[in-house]
Amino acid sequence: MALPDGPRSDSSFQMIQWLTQPFEFLERWSKQYGDMFTMHLGVIPPSVVIADPEGIQQLFTGDQFDSGFGNAALKFTLGENSLLVLDGERHQRQRKLLMPPFHGERMRAYGSLIAEITRKAMAKWRMGGSFAVRPYLQGITMQVILEAVFGLHEGPRLQRLRGALNRLLESTSSPLSMGVSLLFQEDFAPWSPRGKLKAQLSEIDELLYAEIRERRTEGKFEGKDILTLLMLARDEADQPMSAQELRDELITLLIAGHETTASTLSWALYWIHALPEVFEKLETELATLPQDFDPNAVAQLPYLNAVCQETLRLYPIAILASPRVPRTSAEILGHHFEAGTRLFPCIYLAHHREETFPEPKRFRPERFLERSYSPYEFLPFGGGNRRCIGVAFALYEMKLILTTMLLHSRLALASDTPIQPVRRGVTVAPPSDLRLRVLSTQASRPLVML
Ligand code: HEM
Repeated sequence: MALPDGPRSDSSFQMIQWLTQPFEFLERWSKQYGDMFTMHLGVIPPSVVIADPEGIQQLFTGDQFDSGFGNAALKFTLGENSLLVLDGERHQRQRKLLMPPFHGERMRAYGSLIAEITRKAMAKWRMGGSFAVRPYLQGITMQVILEAVFGLHEGPRLQRLRGALNRLLESTSSPLSMGVSLLFQEDFAPWSPRGKLKAQLSEIDELLYAEIRERRTEGKFEGKDILTLLMLARDEADQPMSAQELRDELITLLIAGHETTASTLSWALYWIHALPEVFEKLETELATLPQDFDPNAVAQLPYLNAVCQETLRLYPIAILASPRVPRTSAEILGHHFEAGTRLFPCIYLAHHREETFPEPKRFRPERFLERSYSPYEFLPFGGGNRRCIGVAFALYEMKLILTTMLLHSRLALASDTPIQPVRRGVTVAPPSDLRLRVLSTQASRPLVML
């Protein structure tokens, strides 16, 4: 059966539009073709976009889909054992090993660390000065990953790794580099995009393997970091993860968890400072926190939670969830799909359906206090057996960083000009020229956390 209708323009032209103006591209074609259409992006096989909640439910709950197979292009960077590229039993095994350290209750161990890293970063602010929001938050979320996930402390190894990871993330984030590396996947000459990436990855691998080896030989397993927990984890056959599996999952957690959180936080800070009524409501709610509050109290604040949800709704960092590829065939919204078709739950379009979210372009956190949404209507972290394993970590981190910054300072947007999202690799983020001015670094009151 033919694929659903969709834009008929040249596939290279569709690819350029998709890379440079993804939201405009999706909105234009969903107006014409509705909640399910097919895109043809350059050399990539046809991609079917699905935004209808019923269709998304079928994709998230069906057991006939693979996803890792559709993410194969990520293997080069993330490795063969990355959760993102696995399917079937191997995916289930890795997920079981990876999930426990991300359980909601375990987050408490990271609360003080996240607040401390934020305060250290804020100590560099100059009153009256301004800072570029996204790079600044990327610095914080990178440090959180290095300390809470990798379990590294200040020292030469952490410094080298931070530098190498930043270079890797920069070289994979522009639409141009993304397009070029898709086109030249087999070229490994040292000057080619793949060759450069390979050299960057070798440096990172050397540092990560050294850390894993050292911990194993010295039996250093007393830390509360996620790497320690992963090294101690055992599968059903009582087997630990190999060094290569650990390396692949660490890189996956970094790539999946660092920039996504930093970009969402940048949007949140933008909306909070662009809309005075949002700022006032949040300030009133934060004032209800007791003097020496527990980080868990921050996670329970309803308006702060609604601000984070609305931020994730309006400009979801991942436009699409991982592809769902039928192993045999599948019936979605009455349409028959052959084995191997790439079906994408479209997070952005689902979040912009007028029927579900009236006035979808308006930032209005109250909508999350007035009613609840099904996991097929609101899906910033994807769903089903591929749902993001970092949800609790990311939300907790976002709430703690926002609270620490808002209670310790007074900030304002450096410019009144409205901002537009820009492409950053496979994600979409606020532009790098979004700046905040530091009006005061006085805490509205001392911040003590247990
Ligand atoms: C605001 C921050 C974040 C957003 C918006 C986000 C979003 C997503 C989305 C949309 C997916 C694909 C889910 C699907 O296809 O159904 C995903 C997968 C994943 N995320 Fe996140 N994520 C965030 C933070 C994190 C963090 C902090 C970590 C870990 C440190 C993380 C680790 C992962 C992993 C390992 C997967 C692959 C899951 C699998 O394939 O089984 N993410 N994330």
